[in-house]
Amino acid sequence: MTDNFGLDPDNIPRHIAIIMDGNGRWAKLRGKLRVVGHKAGADTVKKIIRAADDLGVEILTLYAFSTENWKRSRIEVRALMALLRSFLRRELHELMDKNVKLYCIGQKEKLPPEVREVLDHSIDATSRNTGMILNLALSYGGRSEIIMAVKSLAKKCADGKLAYEEITEEMLSSHLYTAGLCDPDMLIRTGGEYRLSNFLLWQVSYAELYITDILWPDFDRDALIEAVLNFQNRQRRFGRTGDQVVRTG
Ligand code: IPE
Ligand code: IPE
Ligand code: MG
Repeated sequence: MTDNFGLDPDNIPRHIAIIMDGNGRWAKLRGKLRVVGHKAGADTVKKIIRAADDLGVEILTLYAFSTENWKRSRIEVRALMALLRSFLRRELHELMDKNVKLYCIGQKEKLPPEVREVLDHSIDATSRNTGMILNLALSYGGRSEIIMAVKSLAKKCADGKLAYEEITEEMLSSHLYTAGLCDPDMLIRTGGEYRLSNFLLWQVSYAELYITDILWPDFDRDALIEAVLNFQNRQRRFGRTGDQVVRTG
């Protein structure tokens, strides 16, 4: 890190999750096809990976495609998958250069084989990197993730390997796609909608929410810094009172 951008370097959110919304509206405002917005959105992804890495963020989770997004037109889904594939191919070099480790959460098996192939290759190639974790949520849905975790715990109970009374929050967490990753400290949503859209339902229980009207293709380093500055001016109480937090730090 060369500069702390006016931020407190000791209070950078360890894990930032972003709902990257607004590509379609960005394109529409310009009289362009939605896919043009997605292309511009991919350029923003690249910039925000760099910016988050420069800020010292440990984990950056990006909601790139939801389980519900399969309901979009075949043309749009195909364009998004093609963009994802070309993005991964193009960016591997930079990920290696920046020591970034790629992760993926979601129903990877539902992705087209040509996307899975590049994704697996990039995950594998970056697996020994020790810098920021770039976690892509692809065909991701919070509810189906929780069901998956519940099923595997239920199976352990049915097989006599676990007593149902022993199920804990930590155990459920460790059966989610995000096992091993700390929960997001901050959830950013661009595009101005006040909803979670099935993103990280379990994990965001104490995340600081930040919603901006900026459409994803227009989101940039300054906007990220602004969001983190806003985060740094919040008091995270986790159920305690403000006075208790001040006293115990
Ligand atoms: C987010 O932008 C990208 C994906 C959901 C893949 P949208 O495509 O949802 O853009 P809007 O919300 O229609 O503007
Ligand atoms: C959320 O955006 C999903 C992603 C950003 C990948 P959507 O555009 O799909 O969300 P809704 O449909 O407006 O809730
Ligand atoms: Mg949208």
